[in-house]
Amino acid sequence: TSNEMWGGRFSSGPAAIMEEINASIEFDKRLYAEDIAGSKAHATMLAQRGIISDEDAAAISQGLDRIEREIAEETFTFSREREDIHMNVEARLAELIGPAAGRLHTARSRNDQVAVDFRLFVKKTLQQTDAALTALLAALLDKAEIHAETVMPGFTHLQSAQPVTYGHHCLAYVEMFARDRSRCRDAIERLDECPLGAAALAGTGFSIDRHATATALGFREPTRNSIDSVSDRDFALEFLAVASIAATHLSRMAEEIVIWSTPQFRFVRLSDSFSTGSSIMPQKKNPDAAELVRAKVGRISGALVSLLTVMKGLPLAYSKDMQEDKEQVFDAADTLALALAAMTGMITDMTINDDAMRAAAGAGFSTATDLADWLVRELKMPFREAHHVTGRAVALAEEAGIGLEALPLDVLQGLDKRITSAVYAVLSVDASVRSRTSFGGTAPENVTRQIAYWRGRLGS
Ligand code: ARG
Repeated sequence: TSNEMWGGRFSSGPAAIMEEINASIEFDKRLYAEDIAGSKAHATMLAQRGIISDEDAAAISQGLDRIEREIAEETFTFSREREDIHMNVEARLAELIGPAAGRLHTARSRNDQVAVDFRLFVKKTLQQTDAALTALLAALLDKAEIHAETVMPGFTHLQSAQPVTYGHHCLAYVEMFARDRSRCRDAIERLDECPLGAAALAGTGFSIDRHATATALGFREPTRNSIDSVSDRDFALEFLAVASIAATHLSRMAEEIVIWSTPQFRFVRLSDSFSTGSSIMPQKKNPDAAELVRAKVGRISGALVSLLTVMKGLPLAYSKDMQEDKEQVFDAADTLALALAAMTGMITDMTINDDAMRAAAGAGFSTATDLADWLVRELKMPFREAHHVTGRAVALAEEAGIGLEALPLDVLQGLDKRITSAVYAVLSVDASVRSRTSFGGTAPENVTRQIAYWRGRLGS
């Protein structure tokens, strides 16, 4: 049988394999609420402009409401023959209200229809991502507040570098996730234009009111170019880019949790509710949730690369290639939401082992820079020379198997006889972090100030 939408030109229906490659209903049914909202706004506008009658518009609107209920209540029968969500809804509308349903598609194409549906979906997803990021930020700020003075090793190259506070480390992630949040907002700003009424690609001769439909659907304004309106998937790419960056941040944090929860580090203990055991090794407690969050970035950045590849080289305007946009965005949206929720749960539940962090903070001669700085400040030594003298002190301590703070004064004076016992005050990890008061530095007083700043900005 030929198609109920475009059967006029066709004498036979599609091959089974054609239907299989062509149909998108299995995944785009997820856009049903957006599709129905778009159709209702369109029908209302058509009636306001006198393009269809008020009676027809009312029948269309009521029919669409009924379809929305049927889908929500799972009594709607989706059909692959009807290809996608747009035609499934319209065909059902014809069953429900008869010929008036055929007037809905006046001055519209599936090209602008899918563009508006998908924009509405991506906008909602960006808003939900913003909210999930805000919850994670709140969890991190709570941890930072408790641990504003908890000393831990700061790392470069994953080698002990200089002592920092765990609160400061948490605030590093606060900066990252707050940037992700502002990227969501920026993306919404650019996305907030309504393509409905661009029709197939050229606009329409009917005297439609695109500003009215844009407003009805909650967009700031209509898109300005009909060709771009149906060709553009930048908004989806931007979401995937935002999601990829956020997932990358989550992955780095997850990696630290994996390392820090090992018996070798013991910096953090995951709650039972966010770990698993082993079927053979009774002692095991594994950070599976952290590992999965670490891995999920693969799917999300994979979706970005996938859609970039679909879009590259596509001539204007719409091509069916663009139907490949949805599964990538849906999967990335679900994956990111899950990863954000899992990370927020893990952070909230995990306990910090202050003692293990403090003990590790002093290892690896982490206050060597403080010694060099003391030589510069007190003895007016050029920094390069101070670096060299301190390096020799580290070598002596390493040889003796002790920390810098345990080197006897006469040994230090062997390196420079002007060194006094006052130097020991800067060799403790607490003195080290307290001294880092430069703007953005790790000193507890800075951490406390930054937490207040973020709580003010987040309104929490
Ligand atoms: N299912 C299609 C998509 O997702 C809808 C648009 C179809 N337009 C067309 N001219 N075939 O892109």
